[in-house]
Amino acid sequence: MSGVRSCMSKIKRIGILTGGGDCPGLNAVIRAVAKRSMFEHRWEVYGIEDGYEGLINNHYRKLKASDVSGILTIGGTILGTSNTADPYGYLTKSGGKIVCRDVSRRVIRNVRAMKLDALVLIGGDGTLATADRLYRSGLPIIGVPKTIDNDLGGTDVTFGFDTAVTVATEAIDRLHSTAQSHHRIMIVELMGRRAGWIALYAGVAGGGDIILIPEIPYTAEAVAAKVLARRKLGKRFSLVVIAEGAKPKGGEVVVKKRVANSPEPIRLGGVGFVLGEVLERLTGTEARCVVLGHLQRGGSPTAGDRVLATQLGAEAVNLIVRGEFGRMVAVRCREITSIALDVPAQGPRLVPPDHPLIAAARSVGTSFGDE
Ligand code: F6P
Repeated sequence: MSGVRSCMSKIKRIGILTGGGDCPGLNAVIRAVAKRSMFEHRWEVYGIEDGYEGLINNHYRKLKASDVSGILTIGGTILGTSNTADPYGYLTKSGGKIVCRDVSRRVIRNVRAMKLDALVLIGGDGTLATADRLYRSGLPIIGVPKTIDNDLGGTDVTFGFDTAVTVATEAIDRLHSTAQSHHRIMIVELMGRRAGWIALYAGVAGGGDIILIPEIPYTAEAVAAKVLARRKLGKRFSLVVIAEGAKPKGGEVVVKKRVANSPEPIRLGGVGFVLGEVLERLTGTEARCVVLGHLQRGGSPTAGDRVLATQLGAEAVNLIVRGEFGRMVAVRCREITSIALDVPAQGPRLVPPDHPLIAAARSVGTSFGDE
């Protein structure tokens, strides 16, 4: 492999940073990277605070073994994170005005001043795209992919996804009984801007009657037809599982707000409410919508996510040992491996419309709103 060199003897000090939205399992990765570095290799480990914000403004701390002990099961990130700080477009106030500046050279200087021999960046597509640019400018970077949405290119699965699906499934289970009691349409809106992995898996696990994902545009008429068909069969309630990025055929996503100082400025939300109103009209059935939102990202990771995060963290240290910088640990065909850091930037991993789980769901009568 090009660029591979054994550099273990040179490594003395590494840094760890978590960027972008938080995700269950971040602490498990931090713990794996830090413990292995400290105990096996005797490296010093520095925690960069609040994502790229910490690299820009020199906010970091040396981690002790006690800092990374007891964090495996804890949600969030002990280092803090930011999904707005971007070294290549950093917003600061100057003369009463907000100005956007490229501070990447400052970041490179700061990393060199910290004498970091390797930097482990744990993040989603935005964080990793920036990581790749910094690597190309000469920083010794290893990436670890994270997102509950499970839509990062280059890896078959990301930690955090299993937890999000588990939380969402439990919510759907709970909504079932209230939908049934009131003979209502219950709509549960889940995260997933571009990809419907969470809605697909939680929808199937929770027995959703209708699952709507960004990859399969729906019509309200098809959804209403499914509700009415169920009623004919004596089922007076229906459960709709919808991803926040789902859109009607020929229509647009529902934008909740725009965050000016974010690399990903559009925040979605509310498609479930919009659909609910239309369904009430088309079916004459009362509809309620629950937006699960950040509940899917918070709290303790599942056993599966703890295991995956630990494996990925341990593998990140292997890459450092082998001097394989500019790479990201990944899961391919159930194997822990690594790929070039620029792969996620090539586009999201969407749900293929012919995915076997979609076919299985259709075969048991689940509607995807496209019939
Ligand atoms: O990428 C994960 C995700 O949870 C998306 O599904 C969601 O749209 C977004 O983050 C929301 O992020 P925040 O509210 O933290 O800006």
